[in-house]
Amino acid sequence: MQKVKTMFNPFVINGVIPDKYFCDREKETDKLLKCINNQSNVLLTSPRRMGKTQLVRHLYQQGTVSADFHTFYVDIYSTTSLREFVLLLGKEIYTSLVPKGKMVLDVFIGMLKSLSGSFGYDALTGLPSFDVRLGDIRMPDMTLSEIFDYLENADRPCVITIDEFQQIGKYPEQNVEALLRTHIQKMNNCRFIFAGSDRHTLENMFNSPAKPFYNSVEQMYLDCIDKQVYVAFMRQCFEESGRNVPDKQACEYLYDMFEGHTYYVHQTLHNIYAYCAPDVIVTESLIDEAVNEIIQDKEHSFLTQLSLLNYTQKETLIAIAKDVKASEVTSVAFVRRHSLQSPSAVQNAIRTLLNLQMVTYRQNGRMKVYSVSDRFLQMWIANKY
Ligand SMILES: Nc1ncnc2c1ncn2[C@@H]1O[C@H](COP(=O)(O)OP(=O)(O)OP(=O)(O)O)[C@@H](O)[C@H]1O
Ligand SMILES: [Mg+2]
Repeated sequence: MQKVKTMFNPFVINGVIPDKYFCDREKETDKLLKCINNQSNVLLTSPRRMGKTQLVRHLYQQGTVSADFHTFYVDIYSTTSLREFVLLLGKEIYTSLVPKGKMVLDVFIGMLKSLSGSFGYDALTGLPSFDVRLGDIRMPDMTLSEIFDYLENADRPCVITIDEFQQIGKYPEQNVEALLRTHIQKMNNCRFIFAGSDRHTLENMFNSPAKPFYNSVEQMYLDCIDKQVYVAFMRQCFEESGRNVPDKQACEYLYDMFEGHTYYVHQTLHNIYAYCAPDVIVTESLIDEAVNEIIQDKEHSFLTQLSLLNYTQKETLIAIAKDVKASEVTSVAFVRRHSLQSPSAVQNAIRTLLNLQMVTYRQNGRMKVYSVSDRFLQMWIANKY
């Protein structure tokens, strides 16, 4: 493919998507708006890279939300303890208050009595600086209480999104779920959006009667954008930038290739837009070419990912990739067809692959249908092995 780099790209793959280039999600945005207006907390789940984070950011950009609420967002994927959680939340609030100036920051910092002495002042701006280290948080539950007290007393209601919320289940501290639930239950000024892609863990947290968060949220599952809506969006983006508009068939071909999975469709469109001459006509073969180039560019990272697996895990992953959608993976038939070792070896391997989020599943009746989470990786494996 001839590569010509152009400046502006309507298919945004990094950072915040401007409203104009945000595709659909109208019903979902409305539902979230209703929930926060009705003081309901929400559990938002979807397969990885379907658009949860962008949906929340889009919600925050809505006029009624930005005018009436304070909004906060923390992604706790990389945290492994309550301390880190508290630090991240404190930092997020601090950062959002910086533009409001010294007085507002002083109030926030004044509330964090358990951390007094951990704050410095920036010599240039005179603003208090949030240079708290993990080790400064000696009593995370106390600091958490203080942070929640601050939010509870804020001059406007707050929306707090905790992304990759399943992570709290992995913290070593005892009863983090119960601790958070106790706080959240008491709060009137704050709505929470708990988001994540580990549907199994999250639904277990919110749907089992023995768990602290049982029955405490409205649940929302984010699926693919409707095909016709997505196709119309693609064509409109090309049209508005004065490019040749791809025909419907080509757009549907791309949508179907990834079953409408947002990130993969968007990444392909982004590259086509960025690297093709402006007068190019987007055909099915051009789409194939663009996808192949993406996969080739990622080869090094794919090889690294596979190198971290043992032999059984690797051959199980390959078998799933070859089937695209693999069901009855522990059956003798599956094991034979792919020349695997044994059903129990496959079962163990799948457990690890699920934990690594390299494999995911959908429940189809009583059957679990497995697939490789990263669709580009799936294609690369299916070609290569
Ligand atoms: N409504 C949308 N309009 C346009 N692009 C979108 C939309 N939703 C998602 N995308 C595209 O898909 C990508 C992935 O979305 P996002 O990061 O929100 O997914 P996610 O579900 O949070 O993923 P993860 O599970 O990895 O956290 C975005 O970077 C963007 O390119
Ligand atoms: Mg996300």
